[in-house]
Amino acid sequence: MPKAIQIQQFGGPEQLQLVEVSVGEPGPGEVRIRHYACGLNFIDIYQRTGLYQGALPLTLGMEAAGVVEAVGEGVTHLRPGQRVAYASQPPGAYCEVRVMPARCVVELPDGIDFETGAAMMLKGLTVQYLLRKTQPQGGLQEGDHVLFHAAAGGVGLIACQWARAMGLQLIGTAGSDEKCALAREMGAAHVINYNKEDFVARVKEITGGRGVKVVYDSIGKETWERSLECLRPLGLMVSYGNASGPVPPISLATLAAKGSLYVTRPTLFTHLATRESTQAMADDLFDMVGSGRVKIRIDQRYRLAEVAQAHRDLEARKTTGSSVLLP
Ligand SMILES: NC(=O)c1ccc[n+]([C@@H]2O[C@H](COP(=O)([O-])OP(=O)(O)OC[C@H]3O[C@@H](n4cnc5c(N)ncnc54)[C@H](OP(=O)(O)O)[C@@H]3O)[C@@H](O)[C@H]2O)c1
Repeated sequence: MPKAIQIQQFGGPEQLQLVEVSVGEPGPGEVRIRHYACGLNFIDIYQRTGLYQGALPLTLGMEAAGVVEAVGEGVTHLRPGQRVAYASQPPGAYCEVRVMPARCVVELPDGIDFETGAAMMLKGLTVQYLLRKTQPQGGLQEGDHVLFHAAAGGVGLIACQWARAMGLQLIGTAGSDEKCALAREMGAAHVINYNKEDFVARVKEITGGRGVKVVYDSIGKETWERSLECLRPLGLMVSYGNASGPVPPISLATLAAKGSLYVTRPTLFTHLATRESTQAMADDLFDMVGSGRVKIRIDQRYRLAEVAQAHRDLEARKTTGSSVLLP
């Protein structure tokens, strides 16, 4: 029987158990995929702890790459034997084989190996919708400064390179000098070690006192207030994650006082709502990676059975770039 990683209850990494599961035939609109690599994402931690609650028992994981084994009725864009990858709901990617909705699955170009595919879909599609589609009033122009937190992480290192390709001046924050150096090497125009430096003061200094047009904040609770301070009037706050905990309730009056600010709390899965939008975003990502403008760094590899250690490392801020689990 194929193996999968499940939780029976919300909690710490010790809840992640290797179990055997039965996997049937795909139904209408579904596909069965054998995984060659699975991606690790911070959202998996929110789902393990119960910050984002799914029905239990739950197989975690939202990203993987592999080969199609069978397709269900009505699936026309996939065929058995095809190399594929996905970032998708519902969770269930931490496994050897699964049946899932075919809508979210795209063909993996020949030049991209399975590990890279598994390491880039959720994080790369996130950067795609953040930098291309989640822009301030008037859009982003070459030379504009943007502030991007956790710039040496999985999403962060892709964002550094993508922003450079768009001609943006990405100001990246990270928690150590080594991580800052890595973000700089991968395309950040400026870096700030937010464990040592006051990032608001540094952003003001870098932008000649004006502030940035947009902040991409995935840290949440710990950075929210100070991130708002980095925005210029009419700037956009993109709060897209909660690595340090959820953002507390806010007063709308704060947005007026700081200069008619805009706020959005986006999620990738709104952007992946249709097969057409998923394919268009994936084509953009494959083009960025295929052309070499974005390189996917896999800095951590684990066996599927070692997933608890992978979660500990990600939670303890020990990782850089992407991590993959190998079934
Ligand atoms: N809304 C969406 O559509 C969407 C999609 C994908 C990802 N995300 C979010 O994007 C963020 C990055 O995801 P990722 O998978 O690429 O993870 P990651 O950036 O590789 O790892 C998270 C990083 O956050 C930083 N961090 C700051 N405070 C932290 C804390 N209290 N605990 C743990 N880490 C902390 C750490 O970097 P430093 O040591 O440098 O501080 C850590 O390495 C996550 O918040 C995730 O939820 C959102």
